[in-house]
Amino acid sequence: MATATVTPQSIVKQTKLLINGEFVDAASGKTFETPNPSTGETLAHVAEADKEDVDRAVAAARAAFDDGPWSKMSARERGRLIRKLTDLIRENAKELATLDTLDNGKPIFETSNVDLPLVIDCMDYYSGWADKIEGDTIPVSGDFLNYTLKEPVGVCGQIIPWNFPMLMAAWKLGPALATGCTVVLKPAEQTPLSALRLGELICEAGFPPGVVNILPGFGETAGHAIAAHMDVDKVAFTGSTEVGRLVMETAAKSNLKKVTLELGGKAPNIVLPDANIEDAVKGAVTGIFFNQGEVCCAGSRLFVDDSVHDEFIDKLKNFAETIPQGDPMDENTRIGAQVSQEQLDRILNYIDSGKSEGACVVTGGARNEGAGTGYYVKPTIFTDVRDEMKIAREEIFGPVVSAIKFSEVEDAVKRGNKTNYGLSAAVWTRDIKQAHRIARQIRAGVVWINTYNQFDAASPFGGYKESGIGRELGKFALDNYLQTKSVWVAL
Ligand code: NAI
Ligand code: MG
Repeated sequence: MATATVTPQSIVKQTKLLINGEFVDAASGKTFETPNPSTGETLAHVAEADKEDVDRAVAAARAAFDDGPWSKMSARERGRLIRKLTDLIRENAKELATLDTLDNGKPIFETSNVDLPLVIDCMDYYSGWADKIEGDTIPVSGDFLNYTLKEPVGVCGQIIPWNFPMLMAAWKLGPALATGCTVVLKPAEQTPLSALRLGELICEAGFPPGVVNILPGFGETAGHAIAAHMDVDKVAFTGSTEVGRLVMETAAKSNLKKVTLELGGKAPNIVLPDANIEDAVKGAVTGIFFNQGEVCCAGSRLFVDDSVHDEFIDKLKNFAETIPQGDPMDENTRIGAQVSQEQLDRILNYIDSGKSEGACVVTGGARNEGAGTGYYVKPTIFTDVRDEMKIAREEIFGPVVSAIKFSEVEDAVKRGNKTNYGLSAAVWTRDIKQAHRIARQIRAGVVWINTYNQFDAASPFGGYKESGIGRELGKFALDNYLQTKSVWVAL
């Protein structure tokens, strides 16, 4: 076994709130425990932010935005600071990856080879944008000069989930800092540790106090206080559709702060009869078992053409049964533990519902006690799934795929679109015309053709329908953090 010996004491360096450039206790003095999902052991007691802390952090972010050195800094200097932070993240990548693995239960192989490289890429990318944000000169009628200014929206509340703790922080911070906003970031209560270490690196890089404040805490308290705050200009949220709705409602009822949302999904992954079956099987595995299935764009509805269905499921089953599952700190592990007891229970409930609605368990279908005492769920494949079953409609957020048969392509696309979600989709075929046609027909923000889970800092990510509002990544995410001002000059 290649398990590294890491104790919580040796790795958890920071457990306090970052407010105005200092690490402080919560105003209430309260802390909460963050456990290791693979063992249940407590990793740390973390300061628990609530409304009073949010008030202090927002005041610091406001001051930094309105009057601080950040507001007077040149765009190029801002870019340089982000680059310096990126370098520090790179230097400390192993440590940050380890914190996410311990806190979340995901394999160290993935945090080291997927999450952290994507984090670094994202910050690198946005550091380059800082001095390239430009307005337009517009040819209006009459004797006027008309031009636009792109200005930062102001103080941004950023509420992020636990499935990719560091990466979600980077997706949010990159564009906010590039545009010159200030931030109050709330990591998920399940995974606060890497964000706090990131806070230390932000201070070390030399960001002025108040530019980034980091407040671990719970959703109904700290999260709600951010969404409701009258002095927060914008809130960016990633998480469940249910809470996204609440955040938007809270924003509407307070100061109409700008809202962007990145929410759930129930992606159709469509395999046509002419697909390269080996590739499609690998893609289906990546699509649903990557990150224990705790992925908003997971390919959870697997539409397979009748004529290749049985062969496909057979291969998928064989693959699923050989994926090493267990201790996330073991370099060989490819599926770790689910993030929490709550998530474990949710997934097992969905598995029960699939069974009782008459779907057939091809493999898995239970907790994996053999993998350890943590929250392990066996990679699970259901066949004979009908569109109306709960497991075909609701986001499970676990390693559970629902295979659905089809015989006409048009029918698969139609049924694939029959969901309130619209985050992502994939299609597998050798017919290039067919592939592009389907990509246009799918109502989702991301479509993968003959691949799955491809990401790049430059390419937009976000949802149609109830999967969200706005786009993350690329130049598109900058718009989430900018206001456009039109200036008129009489000539
Ligand atoms: P959640 O939506 O409750 O949590 C996400 C973030 O929102 C956390 O930081 C949480 O503290 C915060 N939050 C919760 N309630 C809030 C409120 N009233 N106001 C402001 N912020 C609030 O997600 P949860 O409960 O952890 O997971 C439940 C389900 O949500 C999952 O099973 C999955 O289906 C979905 N989910 C989707 C994610 C995505 O990437 N789209 C990420 C995490 C969860
Ligand atoms: Mg919740």
